[in-house]
Amino acid sequence: MDLSNKVVWVTGASSGIGEALCFELARRGAKLALTARRAVELKSLAQRLGDYKATCLVKPGDVSDLPGMHRIADEIAGELGAIDFAIANAGTHIESFPEKFDSAQYEFLMNTNYGGMLHCFEAALPHMLCRHCGTLVGMASLAGYRGLPRAAAYGASKSAMIHFMESARFHLERQGIRVTIINPGFVKTPLTDKNDFFMPFLISAERAARYICDGLERERDKISFPPIFATLLEIGRMLPACLYNLIVRGVWAKMNYR
Ligand SMILES: NC(=O)c1ccc[n+]([C@@H]2O[C@H](COP(=O)([O-])OP(=O)(O)OC[C@H]3O[C@@H](n4cnc5c(N)ncnc54)[C@H](OP(=O)(O)O)[C@@H]3O)[C@@H](O)[C@H]2O)c1
Repeated sequence: MDLSNKVVWVTGASSGIGEALCFELARRGAKLALTARRAVELKSLAQRLGDYKATCLVKPGDVSDLPGMHRIADEIAGELGAIDFAIANAGTHIESFPEKFDSAQYEFLMNTNYGGMLHCFEAALPHMLCRHCGTLVGMASLAGYRGLPRAAAYGASKSAMIHFMESARFHLERQGIRVTIINPGFVKTPLTDKNDFFMPFLISAERAARYICDGLERERDKISFPPIFATLLEIGRMLPACLYNLIVRGVWAKMNYR
């Protein structure tokens, strides 16, 4: 799959992985539509993307606003042409400490990460189904594989994304629509800059963007990275619960995490 001249809608484009991804996509010749809440950041990004002569639309919006997402998808299709890739990348993270239970935090993360992805897909899908062509891409996480300390709310939202995409793929592939799940490990962005703990196998957002674009070009169902960390967590996913719990408790105690 050649990404040049493909129409790509990226949510969460105003910073971090989304921003780096836009640069990488522009380098590979894609036509971009940028969405996030901060319009000023999007306009600045669009200007910088001009260096790559990229065709670029700025479409500010909040992924929790379903009618707004429909309007944006319709405008992109009208102004750039049919959407080839809808990349639901917008998301956020809050550490959870279930001993200080606050269900609002869980609902907020579920609505933003999982709900935001659903809204993006619902808005983009009609533009793909009519052509029997297109790819829905969801930015999940290796943290969505299994339970991890401090990640009950975030992990649950990412796990929901993975489960939805694995299930929806069986239906949508019959209509010619691909579903690609992206599972990053730790990537240096404003989101992870807040973390106060050691992040193993931390990579730059630019490197993450290259992994993602390479995977999209190869039409992968799943793009997990960095490879060693992803393989370790894939193995963890297959372990029996008693062994998995033993390892995670041990690592957590050793790292002196709260
Ligand atoms: N960094 C990592 O280590 C890592 C690992 C695995 C998965 N991820 C996932 O990768 C994605 C990007 O994360 P990041 O690390 O690049 O974080 P980031 O730098 O904080 O970027 C998050 C992006 O999402 C946008 N966003 C958040 N809430 C939104 C909303 N309600 N509506 C529209 N846009 C919204 C933000 O833009 P505005 O504030 O302008 O709206 C921003 O552009 C997230 O889904 C995250 O869960 C990150």
